Parts: sequence; C-alpha cells; structure tokens
Amino acid sequence: MKQLEDSQLETFDTEYVNDKRWQIIKEQIERDFPEGDFTFLDVGGGNGLFADRLLSNYPKSRGTVLDNSELLLSKNKSNSRKNLICDSVEHLAQLDGKYDLICFNWLLHHLVGNSYSETRRNIAAAIEAVIPLLTSRGRVSIFENMYNGLLFDGLPSHLIFTLTSNQAIAGFTKKMGANTAGVGVCFLSQKQWVETLNHTSLNLLKYSDDDKWGIPLKWQIFLHLGNIRCGHFWLVTQTC
Ligand SMILES: C[S@@+](CC[C@H](N)C(=O)[O-])C[C@H]1O[C@@H](n2cnc3c(N)ncnc32)[C@H](O)[C@@H]1O
Repeated sequence: MKQLEDSQLETFDTEYVNDKRWQIIKEQIERDFPEGDFTFLDVGGGNGLFADRLLSNYPKSRGTVLDNSELLLSKNKSNSRKNLICDSVEHLAQLDGKYDLICFNWLLHHLVGNSYSETRRNIAAAIEAVIPLLTSRGRVSIFENMYNGLLFDGLPSHLIFTLTSNQAIAGFTKKMGANTAGVGVCFLSQKQWVETLNHTSLNLLKYSDDDKWGIPLKWQIFLHLGNIRCGHFWLVTQTC
C-alpha cells in the first residue's frame, strides 16, 4: 500500500468528528455499551484526538490507536488507558488483543494500491481483518465520505482515483487542491460502501447521514458529482 509523505499527513493533524458526528456515534455506543466499560481500537487513529474523546467520555474505557504515521502518533497525548501502535493495517492479523469497538475514521479511502481494483481489495481486506479481533459483543464503526455520482454512481470515485494517483500530473492535482496528489485516494459512493460491506461477514445495524457538503459547480461538473456527504456505519459480526 502507498503511504503519504509527512507534508501530506500534516494536514490530518485535526479532528473530523465534530459535535454532530459525535452524537451519531455516542448514541450507538451508549445503546450497545450502556456501562461505558469497553475496549476499543482506533485504526488509522492518527493524533489520537478521537481516542481521547472516547476515554474522557467513558472513564471505564481503554483503547489503542494504530497508525502507520510516526509523525501523527507523536502528536498523541499520553494517557494510562491509551496504547499506541505504529503499524500498517496490512498487519492487523498479527495483533493479539480483542476489542469491543473497532473504529475506522476516514482511513479506508487511503488504502491505495497499484490500481483501482487493488485499492478496493485493500479496503475490503482491512475490514475483514478486524473481524477476528472483535469480542463477542464487538461492533465496527466506520466514518467515511460518500461521493455520489450524478448519473453514474461510481464515476466520481474512479475519476478522483485516476487523477490523484497519477504521478505525472501530481503538480497539477496538487494545485487543484488534492492533498493526496501523486499517491491517490479512493472515495466511494454510499452504494459502493454498502456493496463493499455486504461482501464482508459484517451486518449493518445502522447507517447515519451527515449534512450534504456545498460543492462548487465547476467541480460538480468536472467530477460528475451528485452530492458529497459524510456517513456513519455501525456494524456487527454475523455470528453475534
Ligand atoms: C484522514 S486521516 C484520519 C485520521 C483520524 N482517523 C481522524 O479521523 O482524524 C487518515 C489516517 O490514516 C492513517 N493511515 C493511512 N494509511 C494507513 C495504513 N496503511 N495503516 C495505518 N494507518 C494508515 C494516516 O496516517 C492518517 O492518520
């Protein structure tokens, strides 16, 4: 899998879970772990701000942040209930812990390989890889961006991948505002995410939509975009 450079990763030293998104996940956590005593793994958890929020809201929780960026992991506040692992999702199978909650917050679209189809396989493989790490009451939580096509649902996903992964035009795509220029990014439409999840051994318990984003008309036309929004999937293993 390709890795972004530190200069590109720097922009992820932020927190995407705003108060509205927090309410979405909080509702699920409090229904399924009413005592607040759960363990979690935040895959691609970067600077740890989301883990810190879980730890401070649920004082009986304990968690691990896994990320392959030393830079982002170094931004983590230390906490006796938080463990850090510097590794790639490619090695998830080697983890020996079990977790009640496994989160993927805006990670999956970064699992870029040498082609679009390889990238889609990387995404599916990362989701499958966490299933053996779940406890019997385990839940998987996924925040992702939905890039829904205007007439052809999956077209923006292909276009954005092709443009951003092309090294020859990286200077141009960077100027156009693509932070992942030269490496690539694989946003999917809501239907594509659902399809991907349907091919795993997870069951969708709840899907929640965030508000639609405003998109400048020129981008909407150029990238064949119907709308973009963030969505949240809350899943359980089929055996639970
Ligand atoms: C868009 S950022 C999201 C960070 C954090 N989850 C959040 O919501 O603020 C993507 C994160 O995925 C991490 N990442 C990308 N590829 C990875 C991989 N193969 N293994 C582990 N982490 C990865 C990046 O280092 C970065 O922290």
